[in-house]
Amino acid sequence: MSKREFSPDTKIIHGEKHGMNPYGSLQMPIFQTSTFEFENTAQGAARFAGKEGGYIYSRLGSPTTTQVEEKVAYLEGAEACCAFASGMGAISSSTTAFLKAGDRLVADKALYGCTFSLFCHKLPSYGIDVEFIDTRDLEAVKKAVSKKTDMVYFETIANPTMKVPDIEEVARIAHEANKDCLVVVDNTFATGLICKPLELGADIVVHSATKYLNGHGDVIAGFAASSAELMGTIKGIGLKDLTGSVLGAQEAFLVNRGLKTLTIRMQKHSENAMKIAEALEKDPRITKVYYTGLASHEDAATIKKQLKGYGGMISFDVETPELAEKMMNNVKLCTLAVSLGDAETLIQHPGSMTHSTYTDEEMEQAGFSKCLVRLSVGLEDADDIIWDITQALDEASK
Ligand SMILES: Cc1ncc(COP(=O)(O)O)c(C=O)c1O
Repeated sequence: MSKREFSPDTKIIHGEKHGMNPYGSLQMPIFQTSTFEFENTAQGAARFAGKEGGYIYSRLGSPTTTQVEEKVAYLEGAEACCAFASGMGAISSSTTAFLKAGDRLVADKALYGCTFSLFCHKLPSYGIDVEFIDTRDLEAVKKAVSKKTDMVYFETIANPTMKVPDIEEVARIAHEANKDCLVVVDNTFATGLICKPLELGADIVVHSATKYLNGHGDVIAGFAASSAELMGTIKGIGLKDLTGSVLGAQEAFLVNRGLKTLTIRMQKHSENAMKIAEALEKDPRITKVYYTGLASHEDAATIKKQLKGYGGMISFDVETPELAEKMMNNVKLCTLAVSLGDAETLIQHPGSMTHSTYTDEEMEQAGFSKCLVRLSVGLEDADDIIWDITQALDEASK
């Protein structure tokens, strides 16, 4: 009989059958347990020594989390993956597992606000040297990265600027300077369906699964995916000993359910976002639209070679911060809320919300201002969303 390697789209629906689900229920049960019984002390010792597979304690794993970790590993083309209690849990565990006092991190200037805060304030307090650059500028990358650089960190599609660094080139420069330098990419906005950073040379991918991977706005979760060796350190030291940021069984169950519809959700998010971005570009009250699908995007050449699709995130500038605020206070369909990747369209103000960890000068250097509005395009009818933004701008401009 012939054998077939199924595509990630198929695998994220079915997952692997390992005999972890003894009654054969269609859905993997929620293993709501803190610990697992050993048959005898020898078995307990063998599991702790890594000489025997099997579960020990839910901080270290459970069948419910294993299934969802395997699915995210398929999506990212990774050997191994680990689930976390949040995206920040994944990011802090994956970076602090490797960085120590005296080490050097080169990070992009435009990052999710709490990641920026971790790198700008917390890591330097541990003696880690952090430099922020624009990783799209390959000359700046060459200048910043040397044999002393231990980690380079950026986002596939940056939050909130939507800029797209060239992963292959940044990874090549970093590894040429120091073959052991770890290139870490936050793939939250793209997901493994639109971009696979590991295939382009990155070493570790991190995710806020709170967003598209779960997709229903009812879970906080994160993942890191990488080689089995690096994941051993991230899980064995980062998660187990440093942060303990473990995904609960209920949340793992919900992310597992969300993943089954990821492919069709991402298609609809992308279709809607394209239509909306094109409409926003025609509105004279909007001074600039940032969307990966637009020909006007500054990184169109990188996007063409690197992304398979465009995703559902749009940012746009209006003339003044006051107009941005007034407009957001007048939406009727969109929800004024942070987060992203949900069925509902969410609108928010990075300058005073998700990126309020940046000073005004840091925002300017990172390429955004308080005139920027961020839209996470949902799964509603695109014309309804366009109507809402237009009427909110009409109200705000009165
Ligand atoms: C790009 C990105 N990475 C990481 C995070 C952090 O994820 P979480 O809120 O799940 O901790 C966020 C949150 O908005 C994000 O937008």
